Amino acid sequence: METLRYGFVGGGFVTAFHLRALCQVRGIEVAGFVSKDPVDHLIRFATENRLGQPRAFQSVREMMPEVDVVAVFAPNFVRMEIVEEIVDGLKGGTPLKGLIAEKPLARNMAEGRKMIELVGATGVPTAYFENQIHMKAVMGSKAQLEPVMQTMGPPVLVRSGEEHAGPHSGWFWDPTRQGGGVMSDMGCHCLAVGWFALTPPGKPPAFLQPQSVMADLSLLKWGQPRWRKELLNRYGVDYSETPAEDFATGMVTYRNPETGALVKAQFTVSWMYDKQGLRLSLDGIGPGYAFEMNSLRSPLEVFIGDVAAASLADTEMALEKQQASRGLLTVQPNEADLYGYTDENVEAAAAFRQGRSALLDWNYGLEIVRLNAAAYLSAERGAVVDLTDQATLDELEKYVPLIQQGRGAEVLAVPEG
Ligand SMILES: NC(=O)c1ccc[n+]([C@@H]2O[C@H](COP(=O)([O-])OP(=O)(O)OC[C@H]3O[C@@H](n4cnc5c(N)ncnc54)[C@H](O)[C@@H]3O)[C@@H](O)[C@H]2O)c1
Repeated sequence: METLRYGFVGGGFVTAFHLRALCQVRGIEVAGFVSKDPVDHLIRFATENRLGQPRAFQSVREMMPEVDVVAVFAPNFVRMEIVEEIVDGLKGGTPLKGLIAEKPLARNMAEGRKMIELVGATGVPTAYFENQIHMKAVMGSKAQLEPVMQTMGPPVLVRSGEEHAGPHSGWFWDPTRQGGGVMSDMGCHCLAVGWFALTPPGKPPAFLQPQSVMADLSLLKWGQPRWRKELLNRYGVDYSETPAEDFATGMVTYRNPETGALVKAQFTVSWMYDKQGLRLSLDGIGPGYAFEMNSLRSPLEVFIGDVAAASLADTEMALEKQQASRGLLTVQPNEADLYGYTDENVEAAAAFRQGRSALLDWNYGLEIVRLNAAAYLSAERGAVVDLTDQATLDELEKYVPLIQQGRGAEVLAVPEG
C-alpha cells in the first residue's frame, strides 16, 4: 500500500482527535504541522505512536513539498486564506494527491463556492470531512437493514441530534468568525447524517433532492446574564452585543427522484446540553422497521464518589466535552473510532491513492452549507424555505445570516440584565 504523507494546518482539538484515529489507520504518515499554537505535544504524540516523525513548518507553502495530502483543520475564519495559499502552491508546481477540509466547508455559500472554484481549477482530489456519516453505527445500520430496505422501501423519517454544553475555543462562540452559533457549528453534522440515513441503499449521498427547510433558532442558556458573563470572562465574547443561537431544530424535506416520495429529516443541535458530555443521536423509521443510536450508551461506566473526585486528572479522557468529574460517568474507550474519524481517514486515503475524491467531496460539503444557510433564512423569516424555487437558490448564493453578520440581537431574544 502506498504511504501518504499528511500535513496538518491547525494544531488544535480536532487535529489531536485525528491523530488518535490515525493510530488505527495503515498507510498514512504524519509528516508536518502548521499552526499558530505550539505543536510540540502533537509531534510527541505522533512520534511516540510511530505515526511518523513530523516537523513544525512556518507556512503551508513551506510544508507542501514535504507532504502528499494537506488537511485543513484550522478555524473557519482562516479557511479561505489557507485554501488560497494551497492553490498558489499547486499552481507554482507543488503537487498534492489530496486536500481535506473539516466541517463546515465554509461559513456561507459565497465563501464555499469560491473555495471550490479555486481548488477545482487545479484538479486536486478533495475530501470533506463529515465524520458522522462514517460512524460504524451509521454505516452498520445501513448495511444491516439493506435487505429490509430493498424489500420494504427506504426510511421515511429520521431524527438526528448533536448536543453538548458548548465549544472549547473562543472563536466558536464568535458568530462572525465561526459563521453563526450551534447551527453553523453542529447543524452541518445533523443535516449530513440525516440526509445520508434517508438515502436508499446503493445511491450516492446527494441522491435525494432537498425540497424545503424549516428551522427554529434560539438562545436559551448562554444569553442569560450569568452565562453571558462567563462567556465574556472566559472567551471575551459578548452575547449582549453579538449573540448566536445555542439551540436549533428543524426539518428538511427530500424527494426521491425515482419514486417521487417525500421523506423527512428532523435535526436538533444544542450547546446547552448539561448532561455527561457529547451526545450524538440518530433514529430512523421505515415501513416495518426502525433503528436507533445514542453515543452516550457505552458498555463502560465508572463511578467516582465525592471523596475520590480530586484524583481524576483529565475528565476528557472519559468522554468528549465531559461535564463532571464525579458521580456516574460514561466512558467511551475508543471515541475517535466511535465518531467515525478512523473510517473517514481510511476512505479518503483509499480514494486519494486512486487519484479520486472521497465519498464526500467539497461539492457535497457545499450542499451542506446550502442547507445550513436555508435553516438560518427560515428562522430569520419564520417561514419554510423552498429549495425548488430558483429565486431562493439564487438568494442563498449571496446570503449571509444576520447572526453571522454580528446582528444576532435583531433575531434572537437576549434576556435583560
Ligand atoms: N468533525 C468534528 O466533529 C469537529 C470537531 C471539532 C472541530 N472541527 C472543525 O475543525 C476545525 C478546527 O477546529 P478545532 O476544534 O481544532 O479548533 P481549535 O480552536 O481547537 O484549534 C484551532 C487550531 O488552528 C490553529 N490556527 C489558527 N489560525 C491558523 C492559521 N491561520 N494557520 C494555521 N493554523 C491556525 C490554532 O493555532 C489552533 O491550533 C473547525 O473548522 C471545526 O469546525 C470538527
